[in-house]
Amino acid sequence: MEILVVGTGAREHAIVRALSLDPAVTALHAAPGNPGIGALAQLHPVDALDGAAVAALATELGADLVVVGPEAPLVAGVADAVRAAGIPVFGPSGAAAMLEGSKAFAKDVMAAAGVPTAAARVATTVDEVAAALDEFGAPHVVKDDGLAAGKGVVVTSDRDAALAHAAECLAKPGGRVVVEEYLDGPEVSLFVLSDGVDVVPLVPAQDFKRVGDGDAGPNTGGMGAYSPLPWAPAGLVDEVVETVAKPTIAEMTRRGTPFAGVLYCGLALTSRGVRVVEFNARFGDPETQVVLARLRTPLAGVLLASATGSLGETEPLTWDDGAAVTVVVASHGYPVQARSGDPITGIADAEQLPHVHVLHAGTALDADGHLVSAGGRVLSVVGTGATLTAAREAAYAGVEAIDLPGSHHRSDIALAAAQGA
Ligand code: AMP
Ligand code: GLY
Repeated sequence: MEILVVGTGAREHAIVRALSLDPAVTALHAAPGNPGIGALAQLHPVDALDGAAVAALATELGADLVVVGPEAPLVAGVADAVRAAGIPVFGPSGAAAMLEGSKAFAKDVMAAAGVPTAAARVATTVDEVAAALDEFGAPHVVKDDGLAAGKGVVVTSDRDAALAHAAECLAKPGGRVVVEEYLDGPEVSLFVLSDGVDVVPLVPAQDFKRVGDGDAGPNTGGMGAYSPLPWAPAGLVDEVVETVAKPTIAEMTRRGTPFAGVLYCGLALTSRGVRVVEFNARFGDPETQVVLARLRTPLAGVLLASATGSLGETEPLTWDDGAAVTVVVASHGYPVQARSGDPITGIADAEQLPHVHVLHAGTALDADGHLVSAGGRVLSVVGTGATLTAAREAAYAGVEAIDLPGSHHRSDIALAAAQGA
């Protein structure tokens, strides 16, 4: 099978790496990819957001499958363009990706499907926002309706800060915000594959969104993740499949916009039960780095089954019983003002260590061919092991082997879970 993967992040590197370990895969391509992906796949300088260009590349390559990693190309209809060219594609249509592309739309689908989520109000004026903030009380949750690259959500007890964020979102053309009740309790990410009819859950993972240890500081794209979650209730996956994934997939089909791809269920385990915090229409980053590290079933056939409507006939997925932990190495200044162009060394040393692999995100080659940072989240260092403690030790040994001037990372990824807290 020849596969083209669209995207540039560590998530896409994790997908390419898993595909490279699948004996059914004969060739890997990426558009545009990054230097780490380039070690495993042929890179093509094609704009991930340009559906016609991606479809033309897939046609030229004779690709058997295209995998679209990030949300922006999905919402822009890149999967539609590839599908229209007659090539199987893993990833929802632009219409179905609105589950991520509009939080108001996602709320509407959840309401129609009876999916448990935070009570919410959609607002288009500051007065409506103020009324909703007062209705729900603090802490306040204000979300930009549209895609905002991880910067759309503000959770704060400061009413003025909530109003200021809302005003900023509303100032955009067609600006809308969703104001929600605050959900307490730990968060879980569960990815559920679908072909529009059947659903297949992966294993749960947890992401660390805040920049600093102990969840201090601003939100980021994600500073680390681990799986499994020893503290999660035993029936969690079955419950989410029955109460969240199946009704959502059925509702999307009922609306004439079937969802095929991966439904990322962002969940809060609240004192009142499981609630959906958000849907995404793609794999999560950095959770994918740990989920795929534990997947034993070859990945290509599973993604192809989602793309071609045959998930119902696939064998049950098999998983490594052990654990995986990923630690994100971020550049100086991230997430406020990330510095680029710093030299990265030590990746080969890290990968010499047992049970460590390094995935690239914001990396580039400079004019001399040296690896440098090129973004906020630079690397995802993944450690695996029999236990979370062993996987953490591996991941952090990998981080210590790497040098990136001015970089920072969290030191408490999976710590509480490994200690049984
Ligand atoms: P999102 O961009 O939708 O992924 O939201 C970013 C983060 O904001 C989530 O992972 C949560 O940590 C937090 N968040 C979103 N909605 C709520 C909510 N209703 N209550 C509490 N925290 C929330
Ligand atoms: N890990 C959060 C996200 O992918 O949106």
